[in-house]
Amino acid sequence: MSSENKEWLNVCPLDDLPEGEAIRVDSDPPIAVFNVDGTILAIDDTCTHQEASLSEGWVEGYDVECPLHASCFNLRTGQPDQPPATEPVRVHRVTVNNGLIQVEVARSVNSIKSFGA
Ligand code: FES
Repeated sequence: MSSENKEWLNVCPLDDLPEGEAIRVDSDPPIAVFNVDGTILAIDDTCTHQEASLSEGWVEGYDVECPLHASCFNLRTGQPDQPPATEPVRVHRVTVNNGLIQVEVARSVNSIKSFGA
């Protein structure tokens, strides 16, 4: 277990992320959190091809399509399905604690903008 350099960051209340919605956590690096049919999933927000924000992409099943060049990333594995992106994004562990969504990230993440509400 190598969780000593990890920490849990508060994202937002579960009620603020309805099914089918996504939120961008303004951390370093930013993280995209999705609610897919009640399942909360988190990946790096920045596409591995260029600088697109994946939280602004289109979700289909457990894939999110990059809004710039249409590579689709699997929200559970981080793997892209087709070029131009070839590198996976990181997948982050998520928990819901007392109605609050939390994401496990590396300790270097140092800021969160807000709960968005
Ligand atoms: S920026 Fe995402 S596929 Fe190009």
